Amino acid sequence: MIRLTGFLVVIAVFIACLSCQSEEEIKRQRYITEGILIYKNNCANCHQPKGEGLAELYPPIAKSDYLADKNQIICLMRYGQQGKIVVNGKSYNRPMPPQPQLSDLEIAELATYIYNEWGNETTVTDVKAVTPILKKCAESK
Ligand code: HEC
Repeated sequence: MIRLTGFLVVIAVFIACLSCQSEEEIKRQRYITEGILIYKNNCANCHQPKGEGLAELYPPIAKSDYLADKNQIICLMRYGQQGKIVVNGKSYNRPMPPQPQLSDLEIAELATYIYNEWGNETTVTDVKAVTPILKKCAESK
């Protein structure tokens, strides 16, 4: 009897875990789907549809070494970026315009898309994590 109970507990934990994972996965898919659309409408003109960038003008996002600092990327999506930067060994120096119309959620969806597609992530960048980062960079402006 004790064995059977133990067995049932193991099964129950296993099933609970399966469903929690798939909830996270559904969220990830939702963020990515939205992220693709937002990227097309707000970013692809410059950075190009596959994130490959454009000549000397617009740096690539795909495989960009700049992605290493996610807080900075989250901030630049809303507040823009100015001054010389070096991306994958190449210099760029053109202002990226701010996009104050992007909501915290939209920025989280963009970050999830970008880091799943062009970084090495397989997880969600949750809006709950993005909001405090955006607050902080607003204060330092
Ligand atoms: C009008 C053109 C333009 C648009 C629109 C634009 N960017 Fe940029 N972006 C730039 C330029 C130019 C730079 C380099 C800025 C510099 O030289 O300091 C840049 C830099 C970046 C960088 C850091 C460098 C790199 O390539 O990794 C990221 C990430 C980025 N942009 C993401 C985005 C995202 C996401 C969007 C959409 C929300 C977007 N950009 C919209 C022009 C643009």
